[in-house]
Amino acid sequence: GARDTTAARRVLLAAPRGYCAGVDRAVVAVEKALEHYGAPVYVRKEIVHNKHVVATLSERGAVFVDETDEVPEGARVVFSAHGVSPAVREAAEARNLDTIDATCPLVTKVHREAVRFARDDFDILLIGHTGHEEVEGTAGEAPEHIQIVNSPDDVDSVTVRDPDKVIWISQTTLSVDETMETVRRLRDKFPTLQDPPSDDICYATQNRQVAVKKLAPECDLVIVVGSANSSNSVRLVEVALEAGARTSYRIDRAAEIDPAWLDGVTTVGVSSGASVPEILVEDVLRYLAERGYGDVQEVRTATEDLMFSLPRELRASLEGSE
Ligand code: F3S
Repeated sequence: GARDTTAARRVLLAAPRGYCAGVDRAVVAVEKALEHYGAPVYVRKEIVHNKHVVATLSERGAVFVDETDEVPEGARVVFSAHGVSPAVREAAEARNLDTIDATCPLVTKVHREAVRFARDDFDILLIGHTGHEEVEGTAGEAPEHIQIVNSPDDVDSVTVRDPDKVIWISQTTLSVDETMETVRRLRDKFPTLQDPPSDDICYATQNRQVAVKKLAPECDLVIVVGSANSSNSVRLVEVALEAGARTSYRIDRAAEIDPAWLDGVTTVGVSSGASVPEILVEDVLRYLAERGYGDVQEVRTATEDLMFSLPRELRASLEGSE
C-alpha cells in the first residue's frame, strides 16, 4: 500500500563529518600549550574557524589576537591551522616571540609548491578566496608570482607573462566541482596550464563533500553545522543544494534552527565542517529527535584515520619535561 510518509521522518547523518586531522592537531596544540606553560597562551587569529572552539579555549586562557604586534614581547604565540606568510614569521621573530606553528601540514604542502614554482619563475594562479587567512598566507610566500583567482568568472581577467609557464594551485577547502570548472576555463585560456603535483583540496574537504553529495538528493533539508567564516562548512551548503537538497542551511548551533525549516520535511541531512566539534552535531540530533526525527541513518562514504603529530616546538617542550 501507499507509504505513510509522516511516519518515515528520518535523519541521514553524513560520515565523514566534523574534525579533520589538521583541526584536531591545532586545537590539541593550544590545549597542551595551556596545560604545559599555563595561561595566557596567545593565538594569532582563530585557531580554527569555529566560534564554539574559540570561546571554549578563551575560557581556558587562550588569548586570540589579530596580529603578532598585539602579543607582548617575548611571549608565546600559536599560529593557526590556516598558516602564515613569511612576513608574519619575520614579525614574530622581530618581537622575540616563542612561536608554536599549528599550520596544517596539508597547508604547508601548498606553501612549498608556491615557493618551488615561484623559484622556477612560473606565474602561479592560486584558486581561492581573497581575504581568507589561508590564501593570505600562501600568497605571501611569493607575492610577485601569485595571483588569486576567486571563481570561474574571474578567469577572464587573468593575465600572465608567459602563457606556457603557468601553474594553478588552490586553497585546501574549496568546492571540488567549482574548482574544476575554474581550472577548465583557465585551461581554455592557457592550454599548457600545469596541474599541481598533488591535490591541494585536502582529503577532509573532499570526503565531507562526497558524503553530502550522496545524501543530499534524498533530503528535503540539509543542516550543516559550522561557522560563517569556515570555508569548508559554507561549501557544504553549496554542495548540498547543487546535489539536489531542497533546502540547506548552515548553523553554528542547534538553537539557530528555525522550526519552520522542518515544515513538511521528511528527510533531514546533517553534516558538519572540518572545524566543528561533534558535541554540536549531537545537540542538533537531539533537537531533531525531540521533533520526531529520531531515526538516524549514517551515510558513510569513506573512513578516515589520518593523524598528525603535534607541532615540533611543542613536542620538544613536552618531551623535555618528562
Ligand atoms: Fe588541514 Fe584540510 Fe583540515 S587542510 S586543517 S586537513 S580541512
